[in-house]
Amino acid sequence: MDISTSLEGWVTRLGNTSINLPSTDSWGSRGSRVLLTGATGYLGTHILGELFNNHQVRKIIILVRAANIDIARERVRRVAVTAGWWKESAFSRIEVWLGDLAEPRLGLQEENWARISNIDTVIHNGAVVNYSASYDVLERANVVSTFHLLEAALQSQQLRTFIFISGGIKQGVHQSDEEYLRALNESEGYSQAKYVSEQLTLAAGRLYNEVVHRSSGYEDEREPANGSRTFMVIKPGYIIGDQVAGLSNTDDYIWRLVAGAFRMGCFPSDPPDYWLDIAEVTYVAKYVARQAQLRITKSASGPMTPPRSIHSDCSSPSSDDDRENGTMKPTVVFHDMSRGLPVSEFWNAIQSQAQLCLKQLDWDSWIGQANADVDRDKEAHPLWAIQLHLGPALGDRITAEEVKIRSMEEFDTLGEIEAAVRRSVEYLCSIQFIVLPVEEESLNSSPANWSYPSNSDTDSSADDDEHLAQKRVIGSAQGKHYHTIISRSKLRY
Ligand SMILES: NC(=O)c1ccc[n+]([C@@H]2O[C@H](COP(=O)([O-])OP(=O)(O)OC[C@H]3O[C@@H](n4cnc5c(N)ncnc54)[C@H](OP(=O)(O)O)[C@@H]3O)[C@@H](O)[C@H]2O)c1
Repeated sequence: MDISTSLEGWVTRLGNTSINLPSTDSWGSRGSRVLLTGATGYLGTHILGELFNNHQVRKIIILVRAANIDIARERVRRVAVTAGWWKESAFSRIEVWLGDLAEPRLGLQEENWARISNIDTVIHNGAVVNYSASYDVLERANVVSTFHLLEAALQSQQLRTFIFISGGIKQGVHQSDEEYLRALNESEGYSQAKYVSEQLTLAAGRLYNEVVHRSSGYEDEREPANGSRTFMVIKPGYIIGDQVAGLSNTDDYIWRLVAGAFRMGCFPSDPPDYWLDIAEVTYVAKYVARQAQLRITKSASGPMTPPRSIHSDCSSPSSDDDRENGTMKPTVVFHDMSRGLPVSEFWNAIQSQAQLCLKQLDWDSWIGQANADVDRDKEAHPLWAIQLHLGPALGDRITAEEVKIRSMEEFDTLGEIEAAVRRSVEYLCSIQFIVLPVEEESLNSSPANWSYPSNSDTDSSADDDEHLAQKRVIGSAQGKHYHTIISRSKLRY
């Protein structure tokens, strides 16, 4: 798969879009309207909670797929209850639009599609997160949706901020563009689709900039009188549960890897100076909401660890202070979130929480063993869905000096992340997603006895309505040990 060709095609199509500059309408006085996709997902519900808690956000419009509005609202409510932020008054400011990211114009009714022109901020967080599907399969939901939203954003006279939540493999600190592209071309469709979408978002920002600079009123390259428009990509690393609840997504790569390691009694170790970008779901949600809020509030609350790199093109020179008080208007921004910890400390925290010492193997030996294990247990193995994407490392190589600097920079937060890793492991053990040898004995069952929820299971089962929680009985057939694993595309974590 050559993603450069695909990207080029989408950028060319975006270039044919007519671009409007912001109107002179008084935006600040009426509060803001935010459109959020993926609000029923693991990260999305937390972003929704953060936006809801900010009263400067007048209306939050969420795109939800469901048979009707009542089911959609119930899905939103149930996920938010699980996430721990739900308030009965929420629907006073949350408006649900039925839609489907994989459909043209996101499957929105004509009337709602037209109303996108009144939105101030778009947060495009929804995506199919699936490591087995090809780019061709994912393109409709994960790329075409971004394209349509960017088209609408460029045509709008109202929109101020467009935020795309990216994901998938990141460019290594010491990796050239060519090496990264090569790695992406060999990678899974999910990473490829996220890359194409993130680059398309940045391209939209550049197209917008060109028009701003060409237009007669903006020749001095300062921001338009009524404020500019920001196109922003936020790329988190792995997202895990927080220190308080540890609610973690059992479909995520990182936890499948950890569950596989426990099952095999060994883990694949990275060299000592490797760093893992990993952050709590609540932290990432706050971070995203705060970026959206910078346009809304003059003063942002409390400092957050800055991302590793912010590449930005600004229509006017600016400083961090400007950005904080809302006078800076970068138009193309890439936030690469580097909150995390050394990979070795990640595995230490895992083992210490489980009170188990796992054998340490190099990646090649571990993958060999994992392949044999997966061959035996097939879909029942937690590594099944990610088998083709194991290695060559978990983290990214940075120099020992950089590890030291980051550890120092992150001094206050390293403990928080470690606590979050431990709490997540505790949670995953409690639902028996991670099965420890001692529990195997006490349950008198081997890990192979439990069935891992596969995508096909998920799609065909319908206990509740199509979109509600999937309850899965894991353990003895006599019904002594019941656990609920809630899988992706349903109510999860
Ligand atoms: N989890 C991570 O570790 C991680 C790391 C980095 C970046 N990210 C990014 O963060 C974002 C959220 O990820 P997540 O972990 O929260 O994933 P998730 O739990 O699977 O949530 C995905 C969301 O997208 C929605 N969605 C998927 N396909 C859709 C469609 N065709 N139409 C409408 N909505 C659709 C889902 O709706 P349904 O509820 O209807 O399925 C759900 O609300 C994604 O963009 C992902 O790439 C995640």
